[in-house]
Amino acid sequence: MNLQGSYQINTIASNVELEINRLKAQVELFWDKELKHYIEFGLNDGMLILEVGSGPGFITEKILEKFPNANITAIEIDSFLADFSRKYLSCKNINQFTVIQKSILETGLPDSSFDFAITRLVLEHLPDPISAVREVYRILKPGGKAVFVDNDFEMHIMTYPHVSELKELYDAYCQSRYSEGGNPKIGRELPTILKNGGFSGVDFEIISAHSEIVGDEMFLKSEGIGIPIKLLNDGFLSSKILGRISTEWRRMMKSENHSIIRQLYMAVGEKTL
Ligand SMILES: C[S@@+](CC[C@H](N)C(=O)[O-])C[C@H]1O[C@@H](n2cnc3c(N)ncnc32)[C@H](O)[C@@H]1O
Repeated sequence: MNLQGSYQINTIASNVELEINRLKAQVELFWDKELKHYIEFGLNDGMLILEVGSGPGFITEKILEKFPNANITAIEIDSFLADFSRKYLSCKNINQFTVIQKSILETGLPDSSFDFAITRLVLEHLPDPISAVREVYRILKPGGKAVFVDNDFEMHIMTYPHVSELKELYDAYCQSRYSEGGNPKIGRELPTILKNGGFSGVDFEIISAHSEIVGDEMFLKSEGIGIPIKLLNDGFLSSKILGRISTEWRRMMKSENHSIIRQLYMAVGEKTL
């Protein structure tokens, strides 16, 4: 089975460095609101935390900055990203973590080991998300909570004035992810997937970022051109459409009172047994 699904740092965008910067900006874009929800869902200092698909380590950094007595076990399938995160976090003098280079589908970790789990922007890339949720459930302690955070590209970026061409960009992105076994519209399915994965007390929130509040720059950094160029190179998007999207996007940005909004979908569940 394809364990890595539709996210590979080397191929998802035109350039690895741009993609790592984009991931960092996506953390910054939502962090304040996201953190409030993690705390509301039960995250606190001193916990043993599982982080699934930890990537470059930017979420690991944010959590350990806020909760210095917590300890994170990060599962990351990609050896380049696992190494990157170890170095990145060490440079920041952050030590309360271990990165294990494995798939969430084959962690080999003992049952009932963690107080809290965060799986952010990972399920949407996996061909078998329920198996991943079941593995998180298995290694969570009874009473532990798990939060799964994903996108739903039906409702990705919306703007005022409306840029109708963005739909063509997201349709191309979705086709590309589906072709690799991902599900870029998984956001709406999260509560059902958690229940099917064994969780109870399931709850669901949609958080949003608005350009009037976080600024345009944050959105520009968190989207970038790396993925559209890759979609063009892979034949999912034509240069004519990409040109139109760029023109209309620039027109929207120049418009007085323009707005950009984006959502993230969060589902939480508890292991009761
Ligand atoms: C979009 S990135 C998100 C990174 C990080 N969670 C964040 O929010 O910034 C998805 C991450 O999941 C990892 N990943 C994909 N399939 C995985 C699997 N089966 N097991 C563990 N990690 C996986 C990828 O290598 C990548 O680092």
